[in-house]
This record gives sequence, structure tokens and C-alpha cells, in this order.
Amino acid sequence: MLSGRRVVLGVSGGVAAYKAAYLARRLVEAGADVRCVMSESATQFLGAQTLAAITGEFPVLSFWDEADVSPHTALGQWADVMVVAPATASTIAKLASGTSDNVLIATALATEAPIVVAPAMHTEMWENAATQRNIAILAADGAHVVGPAAGALAGGDHGTGRMVEPDEIVAAIAGALQADLAGWRVVVTAGGTREPIDPVRYIGNRSSGRMGNAIAVAAARRGAHVVLITAAAAPAVAGVEVIPVETAQEMADAAWSRCDDADVAVMAAAVADFRPLLPSDEKLRRGEGMPEITLEPTPDILAGIASRSPRPYLVGFAAESGSLEGARRKATTKGVDLLVGNDVASPGSGFGTDTNQVTVYRPDGSAVEWPLLSKTEVADRLWDLIRDDRQGD
Ligand code: CTP
Repeated sequence: MLSGRRVVLGVSGGVAAYKAAYLARRLVEAGADVRCVMSESATQFLGAQTLAAITGEFPVLSFWDEADVSPHTALGQWADVMVVAPATASTIAKLASGTSDNVLIATALATEAPIVVAPAMHTEMWENAATQRNIAILAADGAHVVGPAAGALAGGDHGTGRMVEPDEIVAAIAGALQADLAGWRVVVTAGGTREPIDPVRYIGNRSSGRMGNAIAVAAARRGAHVVLITAAAAPAVAGVEVIPVETAQEMADAAWSRCDDADVAVMAAAVADFRPLLPSDEKLRRGEGMPEITLEPTPDILAGIASRSPRPYLVGFAAESGSLEGARRKATTKGVDLLVGNDVASPGSGFGTDTNQVTVYRPDGSAVEWPLLSKTEVADRLWDLIRDDRQGD
């Protein structure tokens, strides 16, 4: 669920800090890369070594003892999301007022990532007008406040103020991250087109549509409205509007009309470059002898979008076999913003697999090779890149 996402876990000093260790573990299990920052009083409740063992990184504990000269900004810039759990009344007050007097609060101020806050305190403190005022400020500033729940509190008391369970916090983190493409309109093409020879036969290719589907699903999960124009089986997912097509012409018609108001177009389909000029209305019979099939070019969907002005942010794909030089050439000549190349002949990559090893090219020919990843991870990394590009990072 949080595969490859960078989560900063801020732990402040309440007894619920012991649950932060389990939260860290659940985040790691969900695929997140987790780094922790603890307030001084948090270390009274939870050993820094415990979080280090769970996450593989020793928590940041102060401004002064770190190898990094500026641990709070390094951590804040690294984060895709920050979660403060537990968030004590004091930490909530400091977050609301921007009182950066410890490294946890400084990290929260230094990040542009969404912040999830999981309050934990006694009922009286939670209901106190000052705390309510502070939490309202945090929520108005865009923090995602999760909880508190009612139940057993420290010292044998009962009431509202208990930190919600770690799984609920993990879900809130996923929700906060998902929203990073909110309001975006995205068009994705997927699958291999089929160009009819006769009513039974077609010229096709081995594309399964899985890469395009993963891209569409990831964008929808992150809040985008997605139009998926596909020649393959499509996922039934909220936020993904599916336009089934068969031929390159149908895909072109749909893509060109839906691109008018799109922010991003990702052309993951394997589009036939040629189609039979005169498909037969009736099934070709063996007895009629060897058919001669004349081909004609199909429309270049990508080129049609690239030539528009204005045009959406445009991502092309290139399935190559062997050398990726063709992918580099396409990146520099096709008028795209990014081109994702892969070698369909290499193990674990290409058609019908759940994994892909891709190289991402820029129009200047520069390239970054990604490791072998699940297609879902490739999709999420791609959206991270597109988001950062569009935000001008
Ligand atoms: N594409 C397209 N319309 C076509 C053919 C391809 O929109 N008729 C898109 C694909 O979806 C992909 C990109 O163009 O994003 C590159 O596809 P590819 O087939 O590799 O490009 P070609 O220019 O056809 O290159 P090649 O010389 O390898 O055939």
C-alpha cells in the first residue's frame, strides 16, 4: 500500500509512544521507507534503539548530535508524508503556532509533505479550549488529524483521548498521500490494438495492458480523474473511466478527443503501426488460396498529441528488444516530456509479467535506469516524477 513511499514518523512524549514502535513496523510492512524523529520526552517512553531496529535507521533526536548539519531540513525534504504519533497537547500547540523549539517540530515546519497528526492525551487536556483551538488551526492548515479514540487512558482512566490504533494511522497516511494528484485529469492508453484482417482474425501484439492499468489505478488511488483508453481487460476501480477500444483508429479518436482537457497523457499502449488496408467483411477461406494483405500506416496517436498547443504533459513508452537506443531516440524526437523504455526480452520485463525494469529518458537524451520493480511500483515512481516535474521541483 505504501510501497516506496518515504514516511517520517515523529514521536512525541506520551505513553502512547510505545505504540509508535508497532506503527513503524506496520509502515515497514506496508512497503514504506521509514525514518523517525523523536522529541526528548518521547525517549522517556520508547527507546530510540527500538525504532532503529525496526526501521534500519537511527532516529533523529536533536539538532546537534547528527552527522547531517541540518537534520530537520534533510528529513523534511526527504519526506513524502510526515506523521506525528503520538501527538501530545504540547506538540499540537507547537505545531499550530510554529514553535520550532525541538527537532520534531522543526522537521514538521521544514517539510512541504502532507502531515498526519494522531493526538493522544487525557480527556481533560483534549477537551481543553486551547487544545481544541490548536487542533482546529492544524486542520485548517491542511493537517490530516486522525483520532483520538475513546477508551482506556494512562493511569487507569477512561475517556476520549486515546491514540487510534496503528492500522488506522497507516490508512490515514495512505489517504494523505493519495491526494497528491487530486484535481488532475489524466488520459492513459493501454493494451495492444487489434487490426482486423477479417471478422475472425486480426494483427495484434503481446501487450497485456498491465503496465497501463497499473498507471491508471495508481493515478486514481492518488486522487486523479483517469480516462483509461484500453484495448485490453480493464480494472474496475473508482476514479477510472474506461473507454474500451480495439483498433488504433478507435484509440486515436478517443485519445485525441479526451486529451483536450487533460493535464497529463500517458501512452502506455502498444499501438499497431500498420493495419490491413482492406479488411475482408467475410472470413477468409483456406480454399480461396493464399491471401495477400496490403498494409497501411495507422495514425500516430502520440504524435497527434505532441503537436498540439497547448498540450498535456506527455509520457511515451517504448518496448524495445535488446538495445534501448531506440527508446533514447524516441525521447529526443517525439516531443514527449518523458519516455519510458524497456527491453521486453530481458527477464522479468515486458509483456504479461507483473514486474518491469525500465529506463526513463528525458527529451535531452539523459536517462535514469530503475531497478526491477513491480508494475505498481513503476507506476507510483512515474507519478512521483510527473508530479515533481509539474510542480517545478
Ligand atoms: N504510439 C502511438 N501511436 C502509434 C504508435 C505508437 O501513440 N501508432 C505510441 C505508443 O503508445 C508509445 C510510443 O508511441 O507511447 C512509442 O511507440 P513505438 O511503437 O515504440 O514507436 P514507433 O515510433 O512506432 O517506433 P518503432 O520504430 O519502434 O516502430
